[in-house]
Amino acid sequence: MPFNLNKLIRPHLIHLQPYSSARDEFKGIADVYLDANENPYGSVGASAKYNRYPDPLQPKLKEKIAELKACDSSQIFLGNGSDEPIDLLLRVFCEPEKDNIILLPPTYGMYQVSADINHVKVVNVPLSSDFQIQKQKVLDAIVPETKVIFFCSPNNPSGNSLKREDIIEITNFFDGLVVVDEAYIDFSSQKTFVADLKNYPNLVVLQTFSKAWGLAGIRLGMAFASPEIISILNKVKYPYNINTLTQQVALKALQKNEIKNKMVSKIIKQRNVLTEHLLNNQLVEKIYPTDANFILVKTPKGKEIYDSLVEKGIIVRDRSKVQLCEGCLRITVGTEMENLALLRAWSELKI
Ligand SMILES: Cc1ncc(COP(=O)(O)O)c(C=O)c1O
Repeated sequence: MPFNLNKLIRPHLIHLQPYSSARDEFKGIADVYLDANENPYGSVGASAKYNRYPDPLQPKLKEKIAELKACDSSQIFLGNGSDEPIDLLLRVFCEPEKDNIILLPPTYGMYQVSADINHVKVVNVPLSSDFQIQKQKVLDAIVPETKVIFFCSPNNPSGNSLKREDIIEITNFFDGLVVVDEAYIDFSSQKTFVADLKNYPNLVVLQTFSKAWGLAGIRLGMAFASPEIISILNKVKYPYNINTLTQQVALKALQKNEIKNKMVSKIIKQRNVLTEHLLNNQLVEKIYPTDANFILVKTPKGKEIYDSLVEKGIIVRDRSKVQLCEGCLRITVGTEMENLALLRAWSELKI
């Protein structure tokens, strides 16, 4: 089916007049700025000056990201974490109480929460027992009210990558938006979907600075899509959604891509160490294949093991009540010392 973005956008947003900031109205360089009601004297309690509003569209940062990701700046939206584009996609494309989105549980919880907040219905098409897409079931679930399908690859909490061919086949068939959340892509040997954007006008790829870059605290998420999709997200977002500090820290980080790559290698190595050791323990039934910075461990007694680890000061994520994850704990790969502490505590479990 041909993709028609204007038919997909909620009609009242097509001609939305977005907020026009002082920096939108005057973009040049001047000696005196008296147009944004800022404090001219500087910033209280800060060693640097933060008294000016940040650039609303972050062109410098996008230019650097575009270089790294081999795409165009016009294909990038930056948000307050990936959570912002997730929410914006629902606000822009889904009519509350009428439209729906398709989710493939078990998956990242914010898709459901954002849908609930926006009063958008969720149609669940669970993953198979090996956490793969049940392609025909997804295709069968699509109705005219379906506006967005979220794929999380590598998937949280299972850790595996979803089959690329299945995502592509669904993207070809579906005339709504296909979102591929690649928050963990740096830990995976799979190709990113960013390179496929030119072939699929209905594709949106999410990535984040929260995982491989070690910058969860600055809250910076990326959405990659066609310039037309990016443009509507920019119209609806808060004018200054990415603050000055975040932009500065991210620009510095982008000059040090090799440090990110080294950290990723260390984490992958530790992921293997952790997996090998845990597999020798009798309280581990299975460790699922992972392309992420965490492992999903199936145990006979998830909750009991979780509680005992908490008592020993080690916090993992109890996923034992989650569909298809019965008895499972999700363990983030830590430093060598942290992993040793976990392994020691695990070997001392009396359950
Ligand atoms: C699949 C997935 N997407 C997005 C996020 C959140 O990313 P951000 O910190 O950029 O909001 C997470 C966080 O755990 C995640 O697991």
